[in-house]
Amino acid sequence: MNIFEMENLCYGGDYNPEQWIDYEGIWDEDLRMMKEAHINCVTLGVFSWSMLEREEGVFDFSWLDNIIDKLWANGIHVILATPSGARPPWLAQKYPEVLRVREDRTKQLFGRRHNHCLTSPVYRAKTARIDSELAKRYGRHPAVVMWHISNEMNGDCHCERCQEKFREWLKIKYHNNLDELNHAWWTTFWSHIYTDWSQIESPSTIGENIVHGHNLDWIRFTSDMTIDFYNSEVAAVRKYSDLPVTANMMDYEFLDYGKLAENVDMVTWDNYPQWHDSASALIDTALRTSFMHDMFRSMKQQPFLMIESTPSLVNWHSVNKLKAPGLNTLSSMQAIAHGSDGVMYFQIRKSRGASEKFHGAVIGHSGRSDTRVFREVAALGELLAKHPEIKGSYTASDAAVLYDFENVWAVNDLWGLKENRNYREICMEHYASMKRFGINVDVIGKNADFSRYKVIAAPMLYMTSDQTIEKIRGFIRGGGIFAATYLTSYADEHDLCHMGGLPGGLMDVFGIWNEEIDSIYDSNAIAAGGKEYAVSDYCEIIHPDSDTEILGTYKKDFYAGCPAVTRHSYGKGCAYYIAAKTDGEYLKKLYADILSERGIAPLLEGFDDGISVTRRGDKLFIMNFSDSESEASYKGEKIKLHPYECLMLEI
Ligand code: GLA
Ligand code: ZN
Repeated sequence: MNIFEMENLCYGGDYNPEQWIDYEGIWDEDLRMMKEAHINCVTLGVFSWSMLEREEGVFDFSWLDNIIDKLWANGIHVILATPSGARPPWLAQKYPEVLRVREDRTKQLFGRRHNHCLTSPVYRAKTARIDSELAKRYGRHPAVVMWHISNEMNGDCHCERCQEKFREWLKIKYHNNLDELNHAWWTTFWSHIYTDWSQIESPSTIGENIVHGHNLDWIRFTSDMTIDFYNSEVAAVRKYSDLPVTANMMDYEFLDYGKLAENVDMVTWDNYPQWHDSASALIDTALRTSFMHDMFRSMKQQPFLMIESTPSLVNWHSVNKLKAPGLNTLSSMQAIAHGSDGVMYFQIRKSRGASEKFHGAVIGHSGRSDTRVFREVAALGELLAKHPEIKGSYTASDAAVLYDFENVWAVNDLWGLKENRNYREICMEHYASMKRFGINVDVIGKNADFSRYKVIAAPMLYMTSDQTIEKIRGFIRGGGIFAATYLTSYADEHDLCHMGGLPGGLMDVFGIWNEEIDSIYDSNAIAAGGKEYAVSDYCEIIHPDSDTEILGTYKKDFYAGCPAVTRHSYGKGCAYYIAAKTDGEYLKKLYADILSERGIAPLLEGFDDGISVTRRGDKLFIMNFSDSESEASYKGEKIKLHPYECLMLEI
């Protein structure tokens, strides 16, 4: 059986039985409590290398055999990890090449995790060996339903071999033509023209790091090498097993998860929001979290799995606040509502030593089941077990927000403007404004199929290749509504500025010319539809064509009275340009107008601010992220929700 064939939603989490081998009775207690909590699936072996291969080439699978059999005897499935996320000391000692070199050229010592060279042949050989041993032994075990490759892959390595690989990668990309690379990287600037490939090094704070095309290519290369490393592990596992494979993703921005998603069978991710952060209302955190769920769902347009989350607190936020009673149920249901085929925790049993000993867990150090956390976990397990019909269900969205990883890298690396550009936060604001209208929203990359959508919002899409420009043109020409903002189409895929006027390649589509961008110290405002809305950070000075409608104008500064928001028809569609960073209230109003105009109906007739609504299959999930009672109207009826309540209605 594989994970797609499991009847019920997955419920469980990361389980580290190897930490408890010498503690008699603990495994049996774990199993008893797992059953009590309706747990049906655990992730094993994420950090087990030392326990499986204590000496080079000497394998001991007896404890793993034992625990997998015990789990299976209790009806609990296993997602089995390859252990490459962290390695045993002997391996690092004998083969120092497996350890990373940092960007400042310091060689890392053994320690922590995620500390391996992405190109090291020895590391690849050693992981391939243990991975294939695992696959040979457990690839057909009835309990095992999926392979979990490595763990939260991230980071780069600047060793000599990785640099040589980088040069090889560049030679392929630039057709073995240094002139092409010099042009793409604009190396005449500050006299950096390369005359031999061997002169090129990875970016470094003690060397070159101000050439944007160079920095971009290094991140692209690292992202590619990470995926290449992942695929080398998949190949090792595939020798003996055809179970689905996954790699758990995170909220990281430096790996192209869109590309990684093409290489996994099921998208999985680790969800750790700062739930009760005093700086933002719970609903804002909820909407940012639903953005992440929707991004991971949209990658494959399929259900995903929230493969990690905490039942209570984490150990690495600046303030590690407990989830209030009821919030774990609500945040878990939110994952389900947005397309997760289960709820998984880190960790089942709280470890006794080292850095995660105070991280939340299903079973605490007391070992008791009469705890607040355990009781809530068990009640949720019981609820999920009653709803197998949710598994596999999926609802397509009419609207999407474009959030692109390569654009993240370019926008983050930009010099000038304001320090804090917050690309993801801005995408989240646009997303939240659509969610506040009450619809399902996808979060897509630039390679997604735009034709699935009626409306696409693409905030700050700074970097646009000819191909992306053509896609946008085609989408709008064909009838799509496209909303863009300041910083749209400034540069091409090498981060070379578009020539001849902005937004590059799209001036006729938006019916504007963007002449300048102002970063502001304090605030400005726009007047729109008889009201005034606050503006901060950025104001572009744009010139509309004669057939462009002006929806808002600036109130202050030397561009007072000039257009700030415009609409222009192009082909069968329409292009909106929001030239300033407007407040949430304005975005909410604008998107409500855009979505209604395009005939997209909200899922509810009305709802209070603390509510988020999402459809999945035949079910409507209405979630109250407010500390007080909230109301929604559905089919002419008023529905009241208690604080943190999630209501599941049949549509
Ligand atoms: C990550 C890791 C886990 C664990 C948790 C703690 O998501 O994958 O191994 O360290 O963080 O929050
Ligand atoms: Zn390396």
